[in-house]
Amino acid sequence: MCGIVAYIGSEKAGPILFDTLKRLEYRGYDSAGVAVKSQESKDSLEVLKSAGRIADLEKVYLKLGSPGETVGIGHTRWATHGNPTDRNAHPHVSGDVAIVHNGIIENYLELRESLEEMGVQFQSETDSEVLAHLVRMYYQGDLAGAVTKALGQVEGSYAVAILCPRSPYLVCARRDSPLVLGMGKDAVYAASDVPAILSYTRDIVRMKDGEMALLYKDKIELRDASGASKPLELEKIEWGVDAAEKGGYPHFMLKEIHEQPRALQETFAGRILEIEGDVRLDLGMTDFEIRSLNRVSIVACGTSYHAGLFAKYLFSRAAGLPVDVEVASEFQHIQLRPGTLLISITQSGETADTLLALKKSKVCGVKTIAITNVVGSTVTGLADGTIFTRAGPEIGVAATKTFTAQMAALLLLAVRLGKARNYLTPDQARKMLMEFTRLPGLVQSVLEKREEIKAIAEKYAYAECYFFIGRDFLYPIALEGALKLKEIAYIPSEGYAGGELKHGPLALITGKTPVVALATCGKKVQSNIKEVRARGADVIAFASEDDSDIVKVASTVVELPKTRPALSAVLCAVAVQLLAYYTANKLNLPIDKPRNLAKCVTVE
Ligand code: F6R
Repeated sequence: MCGIVAYIGSEKAGPILFDTLKRLEYRGYDSAGVAVKSQESKDSLEVLKSAGRIADLEKVYLKLGSPGETVGIGHTRWATHGNPTDRNAHPHVSGDVAIVHNGIIENYLELRESLEEMGVQFQSETDSEVLAHLVRMYYQGDLAGAVTKALGQVEGSYAVAILCPRSPYLVCARRDSPLVLGMGKDAVYAASDVPAILSYTRDIVRMKDGEMALLYKDKIELRDASGASKPLELEKIEWGVDAAEKGGYPHFMLKEIHEQPRALQETFAGRILEIEGDVRLDLGMTDFEIRSLNRVSIVACGTSYHAGLFAKYLFSRAAGLPVDVEVASEFQHIQLRPGTLLISITQSGETADTLLALKKSKVCGVKTIAITNVVGSTVTGLADGTIFTRAGPEIGVAATKTFTAQMAALLLLAVRLGKARNYLTPDQARKMLMEFTRLPGLVQSVLEKREEIKAIAEKYAYAECYFFIGRDFLYPIALEGALKLKEIAYIPSEGYAGGELKHGPLALITGKTPVVALATCGKKVQSNIKEVRARGADVIAFASEDDSDIVKVASTVVELPKTRPALSAVLCAVAVQLLAYYTANKLNLPIDKPRNLAKCVTVE
């Protein structure tokens, strides 16, 4: 996904822009570029951009003798309008105005036509270029005023940084796309995400929708949507740069898999009220409102959607609430009836499809809750209540710790709903909560099985196709296991509810299709294991300790700690993550940045 950086200070901007851009690489990109104020001629720009890697562009910059002054903007692009080419890479320039843009300008064709009628010549196929021309057209010595006028004509979403060497400041603005500012010593930074600038400053301002900021080297002037100035709300970032870097692991994904006990602990921290048998969450709903609910509707994408499916089993049992789970891009909001609680699950808080589904649901007047990992993300401004998952920054493109943290948040929410609706007695709730507190330790035991899982992964790494089966709470994890293996190991993989195999997919099972059976809860999956074994498939079973029946039917068994079914789903999730990781590692694939994928999908 596109990433923006900007710098104004007392050091040369170029090296800082390249460094911060590299820290945004995890978002996925296909081209990159920078624009800096020129040293040669006071009112001109040096612009460097191309399709391909940031490191290659940086080499060109160094070869040119590191041109430019102490102010500049930079961008990583993930193509939406026009192919990933040099021409379409940002910054886009009009005269001496350069802009970098993240988001989509929905009315760009209309704007482009009217600009062309005025004689403007376009250099790219992008939607973003119109902004550069509009700002230049309006600029008469007041850059902020020109940007306000230009953005006033734009429909759609944006995070932008704008540089004009005639102006003493840079301008940043956002609507429906993330942008943070950083206050350093004699320097001000902007970026799409905190880790990009964390090695320069820990004093961060998260811009809100409609805000504009004027960046000087020693101050930030913040303005609200009406143009009135606003006080800066500086947030001190407590997590270290190390938290955003690999910390000794070969890949972010492996590091993040190992951070799960901590992520779960943090997600539970301060929320479990053991004595009352209840949970403290900021849901923006009274108990009376919770009791009036008759349905839950969940919208999410990808891995977060699998967390939603997990909640379906959970909420019906713990709170007596039926749950519909929909892929956000297919969400039919007309189904929403009064008494529905809409939950959007999105680790990034910025997934366009999920945000749109949430906006649609709000039109129906239902109560909404967001579950996200990113404080200050767009989803938090839209929902009535938010549950933060506190997994820390996740850099690997494949979601791991954010997924199990979502499951933890849903476990808490299930108890809260069940308790408020008197569906759970205080004793039942207390018992469940006590077990939740043991979950981080149980996950640690699964991590200690890594060598066992690695050996299995390496044995089957060259399989042409994999199957994952599970029932009940484990069905969503079967889907997640298959997604992880597709995503990072590029192995075609299918996830199925155990009972569905005989309704078609069994035709694909042969001696060449390893089947992963998630078998930590219920006995029924054993008959599915027998079905596939009879067709020659090897079965790798993740089962509870001392389950002698599974040992009789599976080819290989990995024992996981015994716990209640919902919690065993979390354990199985960790096991399938390790399986996917070690498979991709054996195949020597770019695990943290799988091909064609982006960490944060901010386009519909
Ligand atoms: C898979 C993965 C994606 C995301 C999906 C939604 O490992 O990471 O499938 O889960 O793009 O992202 P969020 O949760 O940020 O809305």
